[in-house]
Amino acid sequence: MVNQIKKVRKVVIPAAGYGTRFLPATKAQPKEMLPVVDKPIIQYVVEEAVEAGITQVILVTGSHKRAIEDHFDRNLELEARLEKDGKEKELAEIRRISDLADFVYVRQKEALGNGHALLVAKEVVGDEPVVMLWGDDFITANPSRTRQMIEAYEKYGTSILSAVRTKDPEDTKKYGYVGGKEVEDGVFEVSEFIEKPGPQKAPSDMAIVSGFLFTPDIFEALERAIPETIDRGKELYYVDGVNNLMKDGKKVHAVEIKNSTYYDCGSKVGYLKTVVDHGLSHPDTNGEFKKYLKGLKL
Ligand code: UTP
Repeated sequence: MVNQIKKVRKVVIPAAGYGTRFLPATKAQPKEMLPVVDKPIIQYVVEEAVEAGITQVILVTGSHKRAIEDHFDRNLELEARLEKDGKEKELAEIRRISDLADFVYVRQKEALGNGHALLVAKEVVGDEPVVMLWGDDFITANPSRTRQMIEAYEKYGTSILSAVRTKDPEDTKKYGYVGGKEVEDGVFEVSEFIEKPGPQKAPSDMAIVSGFLFTPDIFEALERAIPETIDRGKELYYVDGVNNLMKDGKKVHAVEIKNSTYYDCGSKVGYLKTVVDHGLSHPDTNGEFKKYLKGLKL
């Protein structure tokens, strides 16, 4: 156990991107609000964080993302209507969403990259460790991805990257991969981190997807990457900050998320797979939906 471990209380969820892979659906509505059966993607993300003990949810949004703010707020008109109609189950569910956590909204005025999205939350996060989860994908796992990251952070005291193992060569064109020493089963001390390395250059089968736990020094590491990125018209990615941490000689660990399924709903096919999987397990839909799929002549 490392000394000076601060309790992890906050999550930053960047949700200010343009979602260009999902146009035209995302022309006027946030990608993060697309439904998986009956809940928007971003609600799965928030619920995972809250279940793991997070009490403050910092949502990074933009001018075209008002629907996200409304979703996690109260809707008194709707509540009154449900109450009048005696729809108690629906009423309880609607209220539960706004009671999930202390929600804070930070605007990213321009979509300058996922690292910049984290940086705009700097003042709200302060001198604390912080989880970062994307608003447009999620991992189901037991224990949850966030719990597994917190456990690793409490053991190593370093920034943690969540990984899934994949041998699919196509994935090497979509995700970042890490290399380094495997210090225990499924935990790597990272020595290199390559974005979309391609099948020849991937240093391992550990793909970094969607979940991170950062120590507060990530903010200064990101700021230092601005001259090479934003100032030159390029996006600032979280990877730029992680690479600066490693250049400073700080340890970073990648943790394989055990018993997990990664739902990459930010892409069209990933979204369809997510909806099918959840449609097959959701109690309101599973019976009829399974019958329908079985009857399809493919
Ligand atoms: P993505 O790269 O998946 O989202 O970022 P995107 O840029 O919206 O999507 P495409 O590639 O154009 O289809 C992962 C998460 O980070 C947020 C996105 O909203 C998404 O939830 N993000 C990305 C920001 O908040 N700000 C940015 O500048 C970029």
